[in-house]
Amino acid sequence: MKRDLSLLPPFPNGWFRVCESEDLQVGEVKPVHFFGEDFVVFRTESGQAQVLDAYCPHLGAHLGHGGEIVGDTIRCPFHHWSFDGNGRCTSVPYAKRIPKRACIRHYPVCEVNDIVFVWWHDEGIEPTHEIPVLEEWGHPDWTTPVKKQFTLKAHPQDMAENLADVAHFKYVHGNDTVPPATASVDDHVFKVKLDLTYTTPRGDVPGYVDVNAFGLGFGRTRFSGIVDTFVVITGTVVDENLQEIVIRFSVKKMGDEGAEKAVEKAFTDEVTRQFIEDRPIWENKTYWERPVLCDGDGPINLLRKYCRQFYPSQQQVISQAG
Ligand code: FES
Ligand SMILES: [Fe+2]
Repeated sequence: MKRDLSLLPPFPNGWFRVCESEDLQVGEVKPVHFFGEDFVVFRTESGQAQVLDAYCPHLGAHLGHGGEIVGDTIRCPFHHWSFDGNGRCTSVPYAKRIPKRACIRHYPVCEVNDIVFVWWHDEGIEPTHEIPVLEEWGHPDWTTPVKKQFTLKAHPQDMAENLADVAHFKYVHGNDTVPPATASVDDHVFKVKLDLTYTTPRGDVPGYVDVNAFGLGFGRTRFSGIVDTFVVITGTVVDENLQEIVIRFSVKKMGDEGAEKAVEKAFTDEVTRQFIEDRPIWENKTYWERPVLCDGDGPINLLRKYCRQFYPSQQQVISQAG
């Protein structure tokens, strides 16, 4: 039998991280590759981050390789045609008239929690929801987030199912028990609350976990127990079955920098350990449209139903009929 992932559309719709805000300074231009396609991301002189298709409509140069910011436009390195953030050609320095078809596809961008996101939709539909501003992010009561970046050869739904798959916390991550979970769907938000036990250098710590996923590219988790911590995870599909994952960790300040650093390290190590434990399973599993579930499994079907809203409509029909 062959591993078959064809039932899951490879590129879900939604907001996906392009880069960290700090990695895109005014005047910076970068080539990026996501959703199996090439793009250019840049920040104009007025400070706006923009994403356009990579290739110039003139003779096909990649704007991310040598393109330069001029005011609020990006200038192609090949013959200096300039394009604004809407992909409209604003200048052809050696022509009397700008050709009508001189435009490039542009994508909605938002910049929230110091992350640049692009809206990806297979039918070109405008954003149907927003990325929330996280109250902990940048708040003086919380430590500056520590970031870790990973690549993952898996579909984003595999990682999302982790939230609903309560049994694996015991059998993969070594929790004493299968944690009780309550899950609900609020339009584009999947909410889960879990009771977990964390293994720390100080022994086992009871934890309460509150997760909100906003589509398949962005989620935040609040952990409370002896200390309060939070994690922000972004996942962007680079190519079919390949994702770029960034996990950001922050700790609620305790008035003792040494203790905060120790908790931050223990917490970062623990979440990273769990990711590394999950990874070989995600990277080698197949996808069953109709898995054999038992009464101890968590709300996996609810999660799957939630995910369908982000899939291209044609494939969604296939998925629902399957
Ligand atoms: S290829 Fe971009 S200006 Fe000619
Ligand atoms: Fe896991």
